[in-house]
Amino acid sequence: MSDTRSAAWDTYSQSKPQRRTTNARGETTWFNWTQHADHGPGAEVLDVEPGSRVLDLGCGSGGNLAHVATLGMHAVGVDLSPAQLGKARERWHDVGGMELYQGEALAFLADSPVTFDAIYSVFGAAYFTDPGLMLPAVHGRLAPGGVFAMSQHPAVEGCYGCQASYIPRGAEEDPAVVKRWDYPPETWAAMLKEYGFEDVTAEVVDAPAVGRRRIGTLLVRGVRSAV
Ligand SMILES: C[S@@+](CC[C@H](N)C(=O)[O-])C[C@H]1O[C@@H](n2cnc3c(N)ncnc32)[C@H](O)[C@@H]1O
Repeated sequence: MSDTRSAAWDTYSQSKPQRRTTNARGETTWFNWTQHADHGPGAEVLDVEPGSRVLDLGCGSGGNLAHVATLGMHAVGVDLSPAQLGKARERWHDVGGMELYQGEALAFLADSPVTFDAIYSVFGAAYFTDPGLMLPAVHGRLAPGGVFAMSQHPAVEGCYGCQASYIPRGAEEDPAVVKRWDYPPETWAAMLKEYGFEDVTAEVVDAPAVGRRRIGTLLVRGVRSAV
């Protein structure tokens, strides 16, 4: 079955520059949950040890996944967009412990023969998939005690549920449209609990105090029960 979302994200990929070579600390890999450079928490949110199996839903060009791999995890990424994955393979070809798959996140979760110690999504498939489908699918593929975490833009007040995101395709063409799901933090927390997650948190990480950008990042996290 062809998926028009794949072409839309290929278009997005063309306009998106590769990640910087180093961050402000001079590191060549790093984890960034937010849309702001050198800002916010890192991979510690996942609470995993070297050797853990970690899955990135909508890994894009693979910057966060490469960092997870350099920490010693078995790092698996799935993404709809061949263009995004092409950038990931080009940039991170010398990073060991990374596996990349082209495909749709829900289908990948349904077909996976293994469970994961952590599953995450940074402005990725969990943002662009109905949480009524995504949250139970993720819960079902987490090992006992495993962590799920996702980040995305906070909802605009009053604009809740399925929303349209427009990806520009040039002056003479209509934009591509993809769906995303926006809710206030307390609704995300209630949904995670409804699907069996424990120790749930959902909060907005404020934008950096410096600069003029004021929109923070919603970070949602929950744990599959240990039994
Ligand atoms: C805004 S980009 C973010 C990429 C990456 N996580 C990052 O932080 O740079 C969204 C990514 O999610 C992928 N994506 C969206 N919906 C998806 C789905 N249902 N299954 C797999 N990948 C998906 C897109 O192809 C795209 O690469």
